[in-house]
Amino acid sequence: MDEVIVTQGLTRRFGDKVAVDALDLRVTRGEVFGFLGPNGAGKTTTVRLLNGLLTPSAGHARVFGYDVARDATEVRRRTGVLTESPSLYENLSAYDNLAFFGTLYGVPEERLPERCRQLLDEFGLAERGDDQVGGYSKGMRQRLAIARTLLHDPQLIFFDEPTAALDPTAARMVRDLISRLAVREGRTVFLCTHNLTEAQELCSRVGVIAQGSLRAIGAPSDLARRLWQGLWVEFDLRGAPSDAVIAALDGLPVVHQHSLEQGRLLAELEAEEHIPEVVAAIVAARGRIYSVAPRQHSLEEIYFEIEAQNGAQTGGVA
Ligand SMILES: Nc1ncnc2c1ncn2[C@@H]1O[C@H](COP(=O)(O)OP(=O)(O)OP(=O)(O)O)[C@@H](O)[C@H]1O
Ligand SMILES: [Mg+2]
Repeated sequence: MDEVIVTQGLTRRFGDKVAVDALDLRVTRGEVFGFLGPNGAGKTTTVRLLNGLLTPSAGHARVFGYDVARDATEVRRRTGVLTESPSLYENLSAYDNLAFFGTLYGVPEERLPERCRQLLDEFGLAERGDDQVGGYSKGMRQRLAIARTLLHDPQLIFFDEPTAALDPTAARMVRDLISRLAVREGRTVFLCTHNLTEAQELCSRVGVIAQGSLRAIGAPSDLARRLWQGLWVEFDLRGAPSDAVIAALDGLPVVHQHSLEQGRLLAELEAEEHIPEVVAAIVAARGRIYSVAPRQHSLEEIYFEIEAQNGAQTGGVA
């Protein structure tokens, strides 16, 4: 079964407030799915619903085929959650924290010491493993909290803002770990983050949520294609294009417009598949091309465009 998370009309209200509003979401095995959206959008509530920590007010969600409301225990056996502010036992050592939670998560007793030592080692905490967590830095705590999330070898891991408040080195380490979990180990990662550069680096697909409802979902490149009509491509001709090249471009209906920017020719094409045709036309007009670079939209540009379009109208590009 390739679909790890499937929700249909998933809704959660708190009194009059609709925190999650008829969410339809699919996440497949082995992907790093980014869940983006402003403060209070409903990300953490969704994570809690998907782990059976909250019950839906309406709609359904299945995780590994189990209904999150009816089979929460089966769901939690297969999922790990790094919450926004993980709590650890301050007066216990890192080892004892892991051993305590390992028992809670059902790690067999005979395997527990080895598993705890292995995780401490993997997270660079082996030397300090017997020190009280009260004396740990924020980065060390976060590493320990992530290690705890992985104790029972979950196949789906939720990270709720895992790198917020970490220094660049610790954040880098967490990002490497997330990509390793998915790419090398084939686990599925559901990542809530406000860091759009991080999401761009890690996520194969993203969902954007605002005021409880999904505004857009897809691979960043697909979202960009839906948000902007044409594709801007930069041609390096080492100098201004000749009149013949300009005439060739003007003669192609798939070239919407073109301009010169810092000595480079920029052309807006109807779609990516027209690049070879345009290259051929420039070459036929005796233009010498040194490089061709389609301009990719960053996830940040995509995010703000979705936000702008949703401000202007409701509905989005989901
Ligand atoms: N236990 C609760 N009781 C009442 N309201 C709640 C509860 N949990 C969440 N909410 C409300 O639901 C909405 C969504 O909150 P949620 O924590 O899911 O947002 P979020 O997207 O995770 O935001 P952030 O980026 O700030 O973490 C907010 O308006 C919040 O106040
Ligand atoms: Mg949150």
